[in-house]
Amino acid sequence: MNKIKVETINNPYEVVVGSNLINQKNLEILEDKEVLLVIDENIPSKFKDLITDQLSNLSSNFQSLEICASEENKSGKTLDRIHSKLIDARYSRDCVLVGFGGGITCDITGFAAATYQRGVNFILFPSTLLSQVDASVGGKTAINHPQGKNMIGAFHQPIKVFADVDLLSSLPKVEISNGLSEVIKHALISDKKYFDWLEENMESIISLKPEALGYAITRSVEIKAEIVSEDEKEKGIRKFLNFGHTFGHSIELYGGFKEFSHGQSVAMGMLMAMELSKLTEGFSEEDLNKSKKLISKANPDLDLKITFDEKKLLENMSVDKKRVGNKLIFVLLEEIGQAKIKADIDESKIVKAIQSLV
Ligand SMILES: NC(=O)c1ccc[n+]([C@@H]2O[C@H](COP(=O)([O-])OP(=O)(O)OC[C@H]3O[C@@H](n4cnc5c(N)ncnc54)[C@H](O)[C@@H]3O)[C@@H](O)[C@H]2O)c1
Repeated sequence: MNKIKVETINNPYEVVVGSNLINQKNLEILEDKEVLLVIDENIPSKFKDLITDQLSNLSSNFQSLEICASEENKSGKTLDRIHSKLIDARYSRDCVLVGFGGGITCDITGFAAATYQRGVNFILFPSTLLSQVDASVGGKTAINHPQGKNMIGAFHQPIKVFADVDLLSSLPKVEISNGLSEVIKHALISDKKYFDWLEENMESIISLKPEALGYAITRSVEIKAEIVSEDEKEKGIRKFLNFGHTFGHSIELYGGFKEFSHGQSVAMGMLMAMELSKLTEGFSEEDLNKSKKLISKANPDLDLKITFDEKKLLENMSVDKKRVGNKLIFVLLEEIGQAKIKADIDESKIVKAIQSLV
């Protein structure tokens, strides 16, 4: 079991990574509290029953709510269901929400906690690889608006996160690949040694070998925790975590959020960002080829023979949140492990980066 500290200004907390984490000892912080469990309906019943038993034993007033995790349901309507449950049960400001599920459940539970009676505590049991290495760490909470993803949200940190590797065994393969795009991103932006380790161990991670998986989750959480601790509200280096995402979000939108998964879009987005880094920052062909190989291994269904209408991708980028004024911001690499932020990039170079993906 590993414990990683996230040093935020008002509320430092721990992310615990390990196995068998749903137990009385870990949950004793919830003793005699009003507790609402918000749980993804796809969590296997053995874990659902376990967490429900534990929480109903500990809590003074236990309620639970199942949600169907989809971007469509990451909405004001679902938020309203959570708030209504809290209000109907007459929960006080001392209550605690427990989010148990993937990034959608983590984000919406966090935002419900941020907004109920001006802010109550929450803890998370992220159950997808993506939510364990990314969505559960750092306190970004949100719901979608019909006109844009994650448009309504708040920074609100959890009081504890339990990333239990056992939860990942029921996850569809594509969801492992989605999480691996973020894992590779962490290595690319800040740790060459970790990148080398991933090259050596990718097969073990994909086949969910607990030791390799546990190390990757721990190292990725450490990297995200370090960055968030330094820049909680994304004024500076936290932007590095958006590496590949300006292109990636645009690709997701291009495919109508159906053709490409989030992980595949980020994977292609990172490759485009590295092509752009080659054109503007002297990122080497060798590093690009190594990265391409690792990304393809982690995302076996990725089709790199696709061609994009670059005008459309550019148009999609212009509505992205990652802008300063009218300028698009790009996170680029000088080499593996060395990221930098750049605005004001020549459009012809961006087009070239899109075209040279294949
Ligand atoms: N807050 C942040 O910093 C942050 C960072 C990255 C992503 N996100 C958000 O996270 C969301 C994506 O998260 P995600 O990829 O985890 O998606 P998700 O929550 O939709 O989960 C993916 C799928 O896996 C299922 N699932 C979850 N756990 C399971 C398990 N243990 N076994 C079987 N099935 C399971 C879900 O029901 C869903 O169908 C997006 O909405 C994104 O905006 C937030």
